[in-house]
Amino acid sequence: MKDAAEFGLNKTPAQLHPVMTQAMLEGCEEFPPHAEDMACDAFTLRKSYIQHSEQLGAVPLPSTLRGAVSTGVLAIQGNSPSVLIDKLGERMAFERSGIRLYDALITKCKSAQPVLDIETLEQFRNDEAEHFSLVRDCIASMGGDPTAQTPCADSAGMAAMGLMQVLNDPRSSIPQCVEAILMAELADFAAWELLIELADESGLSDYIDKFQQARMTENHHMHVMKKWLEQMTLNNQVEALG
Ligand SMILES: [Fe+2]
Repeated sequence: MKDAAEFGLNKTPAQLHPVMTQAMLEGCEEFPPHAEDMACDAFTLRKSYIQHSEQLGAVPLPSTLRGAVSTGVLAIQGNSPSVLIDKLGERMAFERSGIRLYDALITKCKSAQPVLDIETLEQFRNDEAEHFSLVRDCIASMGGDPTAQTPCADSAGMAAMGLMQVLNDPRSSIPQCVEAILMAELADFAAWELLIELADESGLSDYIDKFQQARMTENHHMHVMKKWLEQMTLNNQVEALG
């Protein structure tokens, strides 16, 4: 597997085939999409689906809140306890994706030229697993079921699928994989910041310090991935940064 981008055969540029490109453009003019098809194309179709669709599922009510609602005393403060549950579910889903992303990169590094420090990658992978467990325990402490997929968990899982495809493609290079993980780490860091604010507002005081620690760890991951990507892109080498 090659890591550095090199010049080589690429059949995608249209300018390689000017005659065929011209013929294609003339064909488009000669046989334009039918007016009725145009009226029923992407925008109209999507608009219809958007207007008639339901939400990405619902947030399950934790057992502690079930009791709290009936007694009129909410265990969780803040305006929307459901938002907190939803975002905790999202964090758990994304941390799970983080574990899988690092697992895929570790496999790639062990299978090809080990240009990255595998011990560092394994440490980061284990950090993601710890964060997953932390959020799972937090949800459970509130009487929630950590196995429930909340709407934001669904959305976060979908968003990570593209990154996962990059990592699992046997042809993707190490720098391309690091760039995909950097996207995940940037999102992860921002999401922890938001979750800390939400947890603070909701009175989850037992977890604020642990969440802060997770945010700092994600910040470290993000900076290492950014530095590695810079080094591989600009200097074609990686220094030990673990
Ligand atoms: Fe991370």
